[in-house]
Amino acid sequence: MEYFTTTSKASRRVVDCVIVGVYERNKLSSGAKDINTASKGEIKKRIKSGDVSSAIGRCSVLTNVPGVRANRVAVVGLGKSAKLDATNFKKAVTAAMQAISLTKAKSVFNCLTLETVVGASPYYLARHTAEAANDVLYRFTQMKSGRKKAGSPLKTIGLAIAKRGDAAKSARGASHGEGIAVGVALAKDLGNLPANVCTPGYLARTCKKLAAGNGKLTTKVLNEAEMKRLGMGSLLSVTAGTAEPGKLIVLQYKNAGKDKPVVLVGKGVTFDTGGISLKPGPAMDEMKFDMCGAAGVIGTMAAVAAMKLPINVNVVVPAVENMPGSVATKPGDIVRSMSGQTIEVLNTDAEGRLILCDALTYSRRFKPAAIIDVATLTGACVVALGAHRSAIMSYSDDLREEIFAAGEAAEDRGWPMPLGDEYAAQLKSNFADMANIGGPGGGAVTAGCFLGKFTDGLNWAHLDIAGTAWKSGAKKGASGRPVPMLSQLLLERCGVLP
Ligand code: BES
Ligand code: MN
Ligand code: ZN
Repeated sequence: MEYFTTTSKASRRVVDCVIVGVYERNKLSSGAKDINTASKGEIKKRIKSGDVSSAIGRCSVLTNVPGVRANRVAVVGLGKSAKLDATNFKKAVTAAMQAISLTKAKSVFNCLTLETVVGASPYYLARHTAEAANDVLYRFTQMKSGRKKAGSPLKTIGLAIAKRGDAAKSARGASHGEGIAVGVALAKDLGNLPANVCTPGYLARTCKKLAAGNGKLTTKVLNEAEMKRLGMGSLLSVTAGTAEPGKLIVLQYKNAGKDKPVVLVGKGVTFDTGGISLKPGPAMDEMKFDMCGAAGVIGTMAAVAAMKLPINVNVVVPAVENMPGSVATKPGDIVRSMSGQTIEVLNTDAEGRLILCDALTYSRRFKPAAIIDVATLTGACVVALGAHRSAIMSYSDDLREEIFAAGEAAEDRGWPMPLGDEYAAQLKSNFADMANIGGPGGGAVTAGCFLGKFTDGLNWAHLDIAGTAWKSGAKKGASGRPVPMLSQLLLERCGVLP
């Protein structure tokens, strides 16, 4: 997508579609006022006739509006004017883009960026516009046969600014939004691909491709023999039942000299049958999304590279398939992790923590400034937080609050959940140093506590994205989360935000 910023009036710009809005009580956005005047009251007329609604999420595309240079005018509902915050702004832009994507418009001019949005600067309004547009226009067509339907013809987005002085910030917001959207699209693609295509090897090749031709990025892929030599008995126990070779993928981005890196560890279970503790049949196809932690951290790396951030970031992805079979790990088996701690595998379906613990131990060599693991770890997290917020757990108040704030600013939210010895006590084993499951209560937290046994001395946080990484139902598909949240955290850390 191309972007431009302009101080032009809504009615004056020659584009395929201009976006304006109406608030409750017939209050017009600044762009709508201009168009209403230029068209001798057309917007007010359409409000009266009921063709235009002020409800958030509603949009009408008007054609043949007199006195206006644009071919179409998309009028979106903005709700109560005092309540227009970044969340509602993004909803409104999303509604506009959805309506416009059904037309043949190649260029749009978003005049909503002139509005007063609670807590949002021109930088964020531009960025949210870019992210929302890309989110709406995303299509997953790789696996469809026959003549591919052409994607949307939309190529250019204009961003209205009140004064020339806002141009640089708005342009930077659009460029960062586009970079984040690159990462979100990659994370969606990886998540949406079926498990017979998106294998551990496929994830490794994707990382190699991302690094190819980028002097700041390097990849290293460890095979099972190499992991065995490192003592990763826990990770390897998960991949024991499958013919698909497991991998440990390391992607390094260096663009800040000798700074300690932020390390992002992503759960890459390319399919989770549950293993011998087999999952029930209904909706098991959705366990192809069990690598969305990996997709999220690889996508974040793609965004970092696209934005050329001055920072050091390492991504570590333990990638395996969890299958039952004659040589699969059995409930009650005891494995030795790379840390030396032994684990009684009471449930082979609690496999995410078994691969993450070894990946976390491996990551110690990077002496991380902060280390965040990202995983579709527990069904219990979906029960606790639903599909809206990812769970954030950390023994560090600072890191947990930093991640929370990044989620708020990026419109990709999380919520804190506890950790602590009282929960960790559920992981006691009669036979090994710990069990891999707790009791029936607090499943998201005991999973976090399990990981906490491998992060002593690290500035570590855990994100459970089981509820947020994909949507079920008619709109089934990966969400690309938490790429915006993690990108925001890195943007803040390298100080390039206006
Ligand atoms: N990948 C699943 C978690 C999951 C389930 C995410 C459903 C999203 C939707 C994970 O590997 C798992 O199976 N966890 C078990 C843990 C339990 C055995 C302690 C779970 O949540 O049931
Ligand atoms: Mn599982
Ligand atoms: Zn899983």
